[in-house]
Amino acid sequence: MVNVQSTEHRVSLLNKYDRPFHVILSQQFERTHIDELCNLSDMMRSIAETKKGLEFLQSMLRHKRAMIYFTQPSTRTFLSFVSACQILGIPYIDVRDPQVSSEVKGETEEDTVKVLSQYFDLIVMRHPGDGFAEQMASEMQFSIPIINGGSGKDQHPTQALLDIYTLKRSFNNGLENREITFVGDLKRGRTVRSLVYLLCKYKNLHINFVSPPQLGMEADIIDYLKRYNVSFKEHTMFSGEVIKSSDAIYMTRLQDEHDKKGESLAVDYSSYALTIKHQHLFKPSLIIMHPLPRRKELDKALDSTQYAKYWDQVKNGMWMRSAIIAYVFHADSNIINYYHDTYLK
Ligand code: NCD
Repeated sequence: MVNVQSTEHRVSLLNKYDRPFHVILSQQFERTHIDELCNLSDMMRSIAETKKGLEFLQSMLRHKRAMIYFTQPSTRTFLSFVSACQILGIPYIDVRDPQVSSEVKGETEEDTVKVLSQYFDLIVMRHPGDGFAEQMASEMQFSIPIINGGSGKDQHPTQALLDIYTLKRSFNNGLENREITFVGDLKRGRTVRSLVYLLCKYKNLHINFVSPPQLGMEADIIDYLKRYNVSFKEHTMFSGEVIKSSDAIYMTRLQDEHDKKGESLAVDYSSYALTIKHQHLFKPSLIIMHPLPRRKELDKALDSTQYAKYWDQVKNGMWMRSAIIAYVFHADSNIINYYHDTYLK
């Protein structure tokens, strides 16, 4: 869906009381929101270490009910949201197959979502349509929050937030002055698109985009980087020079489920891979990220090295999604107070 409205206008339909009401686009998040969410994630994971702390978290939102509406394949993001609901004590139910809903009777997906919104207090949605979650959020206005768990080729804001959280933790909080390299199918990879929007909020970064010529980053993201004066370079070769200068390398798989006529078959993806043979080029502090699932672009032999942060991303995702849900329901101040009373007095 081509959205011709300005970003500012789109964000104004999704934010309320100075914070995201719905979580649909990365552009909704200012630095203060990102910092608050990272701090909240840290606090929640500390609190949950004790039985008493976890029971406190599980009492927070017991009165809310969630629908996890995932009509596009997913295991880790789905279970990440399930875990987040469990941490916050939110009863949830899921719909994963539209074939078992009234959509087979000819109901539109829009109507299905509106029906769900009458039963639940939160909808977490993954959908193959680029603009569907945003369309539903603006149609439903501020009735109940919708959290986008991945929309088509376009956005994956909760992944972007967990990626920032992972970068911050790995770099000891300092994201400024770093060089971050994205490799793979950048044209259709929603995780990279969403993360780039957030990176624009940090100073003195340099971004490399490395992709096959057919799968380069889309013009809307390039324009956004220019608007924010972020230094970047596009490459079609994954060279030793780029690897050497990177502080983080973010690998992605070929997104061939978006092919219309098998066009990925014409792409030689083999050189857009990171292997143990590249190790001699790595900075000692390099971090390697991947949203998963991976294919051959990321060598398993790297898994046991100090550079691999992709398992951390999975764990960080569960805490970040817990924090996002708590934040959307304005439960964060109670959590912060509990943390201060328990650990800082
Ligand atoms: C990503 C996605 O769904 O966009 N996976 C995820 O959410 N962890 C990346 C991908 O599928 O390649």
